Amino acid sequence: MKFDTKAIHAGYSPEKTTGSRAVPIYMTSAYAFESTEHARRLFALEESGNIYTRLQNPTTDVLEKRMAALDGGIGAMAASSGHGAITMTLLNLARSGDEIVSAKAIYGGAVNLMSKTLGQMGIKANYVDAHDPDAFRRATNDKTRAYFIETMGNPLGDIPDIEQIARVAHENGVPLIADNTEATPYLLRPIEHGADIVVYSSTKYLTGNGTVLGGVVVDSGKFVWKDNPRFPDYNEPDASYHGIVYANDCGDAAFITKLRTHILRDVGASISPFNSWVTLLGLETLGLRMQRHCENGIKVAEFLNSHSMIESVSYPGLAGSPYHGMYQKYFPKGQSPVFCFEIKGSREVAAKFCDSLEIISIVANLGDSRTIVSCPAATTHSQVPDEKLAEIGLKPGTIRISVGIEDAEDIINDIGKALDECSSL
Ligand SMILES: Cc1ncc(COP(=O)(O)O)c(C=O)c1O
Repeated sequence: MKFDTKAIHAGYSPEKTTGSRAVPIYMTSAYAFESTEHARRLFALEESGNIYTRLQNPTTDVLEKRMAALDGGIGAMAASSGHGAITMTLLNLARSGDEIVSAKAIYGGAVNLMSKTLGQMGIKANYVDAHDPDAFRRATNDKTRAYFIETMGNPLGDIPDIEQIARVAHENGVPLIADNTEATPYLLRPIEHGADIVVYSSTKYLTGNGTVLGGVVVDSGKFVWKDNPRFPDYNEPDASYHGIVYANDCGDAAFITKLRTHILRDVGASISPFNSWVTLLGLETLGLRMQRHCENGIKVAEFLNSHSMIESVSYPGLAGSPYHGMYQKYFPKGQSPVFCFEIKGSREVAAKFCDSLEIISIVANLGDSRTIVSCPAATTHSQVPDEKLAEIGLKPGTIRISVGIEDAEDIINDIGKALDECSSL
């Protein structure tokens, strides 16, 4: 099956009881066992089946299979949010005393998660410039358990050289985690470029209409866990789970099996079956929507780039961008239209611009069908100090836009009118 066919069909064929053509919502917390003996067999792993929705659910199972198919992975696991997916992924790799090497210009919430919460748990994050693959090598030591990048940085839309970073990761026996939220598997499949684990906030483009939260982790099945000294948890019996040795007993599926049976079981950041169902509805139109998002994105970027009141536009799809080469290498289908621009003038001018928009709203989200703007320094990156903001190329007046799928002319007119409102300041 090709991409758009998988987005509609992968992981589901009409179920036997009712023949329901659409994926049903199995809105249940738990499942009736046929007998005590049946329950015993399921708990003892002698037979597979549904036990409890914290661990598995038939609606969520379709979402997981569909995402694995779209990304070319061997399995996937959904989570309550993108942050749930990232947190559980990192906890599946690192424990107290371990370290992670992460790109520094990433979603501010992920920086908080790594520095504050995981930091308090004894897991240290080292931040590097994602555009210097060798920086990952220099930051690696015996305690390193993962590299983390965004395939398109939020908020700048910059593009790291995934293949080069994957090469450094594998030379060091470290798995590469790629957050592919902004690109989506329609525009880029990180596993094809060497990523081992792909994470998503499905809250964004995968669902695509700004309604439900969710996250997904996709496992490539390619990383070699067996006898890797960095990962004793994969090579020693897990006493909390029938003495399973993940790297031996689960083969290629070691990571994704441990993620569910150990981490999801204990952390419990599971997705609601309803949210899985809404995400599945969104996935059906992912290809169509992304085409339109990309078409609108370049039109808006070009408009801004040629406007006399605009200082700069950070959009690798534009020929002048320092990341245009990476864009041509990794994004032949187009660029997801989340990017930053800066209006000439002060922080007040940027605020006036946002407040003058009529169709476009000020929202702390991206990947919605509606065009939205935000000021990262005041919202998503508000916990990041000014000097750190500058390090990742953000200024207090930088505006992030996520171009939606409305008529491009209406989006551009709205922006043009709001810029006119600022011209007197
Ligand atoms: C790139 C990226 N990854 C992860 C997240 C976290 O996702 P969620 O808000 O679904 O927890 C976000 C949220 O904005 C994001 O932009």
